[in-house]
Amino acid sequence: MKLIWAQSRNIPSAPLSLTADCCAAVEGLALPCGVYVTLTDDEQIQTINRAQRGIDHATDVLSFPSVNYPKGITAHKAKALIKQEYSDDDRAYILGDIFISYDHVLAQAEEYGHSVDRELCYLLTHGLFHLFGYDHMTGDEQKEMRNMEEKALQLAGITRGGSAAAPVTDAQLLALAKEAMQRSYSPYSHYKVGACLLSLDGRVYTGTNIENASFGLTICAERAAISKAITDGVQSFSAIAIAAVGSPPWPCGACRQVLNEFGPDIRVLITWDKDQTDEAPLSALLPHSFGPKDLP
Ligand code: THU
Repeated sequence: MKLIWAQSRNIPSAPLSLTADCCAAVEGLALPCGVYVTLTDDEQIQTINRAQRGIDHATDVLSFPSVNYPKGITAHKAKALIKQEYSDDDRAYILGDIFISYDHVLAQAEEYGHSVDRELCYLLTHGLFHLFGYDHMTGDEQKEMRNMEEKALQLAGITRGGSAAAPVTDAQLLALAKEAMQRSYSPYSHYKVGACLLSLDGRVYTGTNIENASFGLTICAERAAISKAITDGVQSFSAIAIAAVGSPPWPCGACRQVLNEFGPDIRVLITWDKDQTDEAPLSALLPHSFGPKDLP
């Protein structure tokens, strides 16, 4: 999921991109979608609320879906409708607009006793599920929407104070790899790859392949994910999921070697085409390996 910020002022460092990917993965979207996000204040959100909905109040988050979902249908069942929303400029299917009032973010973080980042991630999640066709008009609808939001926040590692994060499942890792694949920069090979690493302590890091006009500078999806994790101070992984279309995306030799640096024996899960999957331990993909253990 691409977050397209409508203004450059105050774009927060909260893990919003991962949160958006987790929302899309939990919904089972697997399309290159984008959302315009504006971080604003109470005054502006009140003006928008009044103009668009006739409600003259400031609020925390407003979302305006571009897709008109039929009753009971959410995004993963509405791919044909979503595909009508392609934006050439953004190279994504645009699901709509989200406005978040930073004044409300600060006040609600204080009120609920959690971090500003967590409140922002929650409000983005809420806005995104509206753009996926969820609502909370009835008690049942509200329950379902809350349940989806909670699953996405758990997957992003954003838990309620004190409660432990649920273990990340293989299906979730594969869905996140597919989500990252949608952001591939591969204008030369047109072979999109996405990866999602799972750290020993349960965190997820996504990556995608990044090609370059000087072909040799291309970065594989797996190593893009590893770079993010190492930069965050995370160096041990239990699994990596890799997604592509057209052929089984077993990691290239270079990526096997780089993964081998950060074992123990990492499970390599792959998915391609119509949800085909396979898996192998890294030790089977890189036998007789050379690694940190071989240096005195
Ligand atoms: N690629 C990966 O991202 N991971 C691999 O392990 C194999 C290859 C990418 C690099 C390049 O952008 C494209 O696939 C074709 O080689």
